[in-house]
Amino acid sequence: MSANIIDGNSIAAQIQEEVAREVQRLKQKQIHPCLAVVAVRKDGVSECYVGNKDRVCEAAGIRFLKVEVNAGAPEQALLDEIDKLNQDPNVHGILLQLPIPHSMNQERIVERISPRKDVDGFHPENIGKLLMGLDCLAPCTASGIPELITRSGINMAGKHAVIVGRSNLVGKPLMNLLIRKGDKANCTVTCCHSGTDHLANHTRQADILIAAIGVPHFVTVGMVKEGATVIDVGINRLDDLEHSLGYRLVGDVDYEEVREVADNITPVPGGVGPISVAMMIRNTVKAARLQTFL
Ligand SMILES: NC(=O)c1ccc[n+]([C@@H]2O[C@H](COP(=O)([O-])OP(=O)(O)OC[C@H]3O[C@@H](n4cnc5c(N)ncnc54)[C@H](OP(=O)(O)O)[C@@H]3O)[C@@H](O)[C@H]2O)c1
Repeated sequence: MSANIIDGNSIAAQIQEEVAREVQRLKQKQIHPCLAVVAVRKDGVSECYVGNKDRVCEAAGIRFLKVEVNAGAPEQALLDEIDKLNQDPNVHGILLQLPIPHSMNQERIVERISPRKDVDGFHPENIGKLLMGLDCLAPCTASGIPELITRSGINMAGKHAVIVGRSNLVGKPLMNLLIRKGDKANCTVTCCHSGTDHLANHTRQADILIAAIGVPHFVTVGMVKEGATVIDVGINRLDDLEHSLGYRLVGDVDYEEVREVADNITPVPGGVGPISVAMMIRNTVKAARLQTFL
């Protein structure tokens, strides 16, 4: 029997509605949550992502500010903009739109963002708190995954979760979220990477298998235990001349084959992608609450 499809769009819509209600509550207390996105390069791709964030913020009633720095500008110009946003009491969240030019030091820029406004959850202070199991602003894609799973009625407690990928963006924060005590966690976690021997032996033991690799169709049916929940984080472009864009998006999982053995699976697109943006606005509202002690 084919797997239940986890619908990232409808779960993201639920979270966006919850955020919109919280925004209304804060507005009644004269607090208007605001997200600032700092963008550097003016290429088509980052423009499109910034536009999408703007639309989602607007729908939830969150003010959206776009601050642009020219690609040729010195790094200091970007740091100065971040300093201004850090000090502005009307700005609650700051997000650095990636990629930035190689001439700029991404780590230094991320560390300049106030941890209390770091809605991406990439600041070392937030990462440290995440590791210690403390309340923090956690990375959006990683923190969206337990939402996708539990809101689909799947129990996570006690389950063996196997993550393939150990990036700072997805794999490592997810590992720390899933081993936490409490709701939407309490898994036993294995994290695999390019140095893992006999990878399929690990993935076949997963009750919950999460692929965050960046290689199209990497996870094949023989790597998946029957009845598993499979979460595909990957977003890869494959050339496709039949598609109007000349390409199509595929995940890291061989979806058509794997859905025949899994119990639950996320599609690409329409799985993890939409939840990341929903978690971004949820973090913005959380940041507004933290800064106003509500
Ligand atoms: N849906 C979303 O909102 C969202 C958000 C973020 C990322 N993504 C997508 O998720 C994917 C992963 O992103 P990322 O930023 O985590 O990528 P990344 O920084 O390139 O990390 C990829 C990870 O996969 C591991 N890996 C690569 N080849 C492998 C192999 N043959 N066997 C085992 N492990 C292997 C790497 O291992 P090593 O560490 O050993 O090199 C690394 O840890 C990409 O497709 C990205 O576009 C989607």
